[in-house]
Amino acid sequence: MKIFFLDQSGKPGGAELCLIDIAKPYRDRCLVGLFADGSFRDLLEQNQIPVQILTNQEIQVRKESNLTQGLASLTQLAPLITKVATIAREYDIIYANTQKALVIGALASFLSRRPLVYHLHDILSPEHFSKTNRAIAVNLANRASLIIANSQASKAAFIEAGGKANIVEVAYNGFDSNLYQISADKITQIRQELGFTDKFIIGHFSRLSPWKGQHILIEALAKTPENTTVILVGDALFGEQDYILKLHQQVAKLGLENRVKFLGFRTDIPELMSVCDLIAHTSTAAEPFGRVIVEGMLCGKPVIAAKAGGATEIVEDGINGFLVTPNQPQELSEVITQCVTEIDKTKMLATNARISAIARFDVEVINRQIDEFLYRLADKK
Ligand code: UDP
Ligand code: GLC
Repeated sequence: MKIFFLDQSGKPGGAELCLIDIAKPYRDRCLVGLFADGSFRDLLEQNQIPVQILTNQEIQVRKESNLTQGLASLTQLAPLITKVATIAREYDIIYANTQKALVIGALASFLSRRPLVYHLHDILSPEHFSKTNRAIAVNLANRASLIIANSQASKAAFIEAGGKANIVEVAYNGFDSNLYQISADKITQIRQELGFTDKFIIGHFSRLSPWKGQHILIEALAKTPENTTVILVGDALFGEQDYILKLHQQVAKLGLENRVKFLGFRTDIPELMSVCDLIAHTSTAAEPFGRVIVEGMLCGKPVIAAKAGGATEIVEDGINGFLVTPNQPQELSEVITQCVTEIDKTKMLATNARISAIARFDVEVINRQIDEFLYRLADKK
């Protein structure tokens, strides 16, 4: 089975990192078509996955765009749609991995008569998308032969928004747990580099974006013991530069300059997570899945996650991690303080976290599950 994957992004967000793992087993019979160039292309090439940049033109469908803007942008997309349809004729399936890829993929699927698979990485709820964008996404997605949702939460929101239940399967993101085992020497070395050798380090690993809630963690930090520190790992991937400025201002206003480090976008996530004493996930809107939560668990770290969306399918509060109410810095600071003081209980939860993450999110098991979905689809043809 030959697969033509489509993704709009040149930058490696969670959906793109997930796509690398999905495309890898098909690398001798697939192509990943991107709508922008960037470091995601490099990562695909490093993994020997064939990749082609299909356009350099910016596609102007924003999360909050209205119908007129949406339609106007469609007319500019005709050359790209034609190109995708032409390439698609050499493949058995078009696999759209993002929303703009869905728009292009749905039209190209119609023109090329190739079935469309849509990997739904988003929660199509009002807190994430405008009414128009939800309507466009659901309408096009309903034409797909198969939708793979990244969590039950994403599936439920899709159905709630008018999506067809009978075409949706759920597949969580998969991970290679071996990549998350880091040597003690390496951990000591990174701690020294950070200058936080004797501190309690809380790690936040996410692109800098208001809904990822880095500001909630900073506010909570001000209410936790003096020896707690925060590393913020990630950059504004999708143009949210104002938010970075706001975070720096917040840190200065609270006098936390010596307790917060901004590390920018990093590729050594398992290493950095392994130096942390705690991982915080603080999304203010429901997280569709939450790769960073699983990654923290695979590193054997206690994770505090915001109780909404996919996070509640990954973490069992008090068993293999902690769930806190989103947008509540006070509650977050209390749980952080509890982790600092109740070391044994926290360690036990972290051990459970690693065991459950290895058992539930193994990349090979999940890839087999996706492969079965795709073969079933091919059989139906
Ligand atoms: N990540 C990374 N470098 C960074 C920050 C994050 O590689 O500096 C990775 C992180 O390890 C995770 C992904 O980016 O695998 C983010 O995925 P997640 O599902 O947590 O959130 P998304 O950004 O996709 O909404
Ligand atoms: C999206 C979601 C994130 C999810 C990732 C991979 O980027 O925002 O929650 O983990 O896709 O499915």
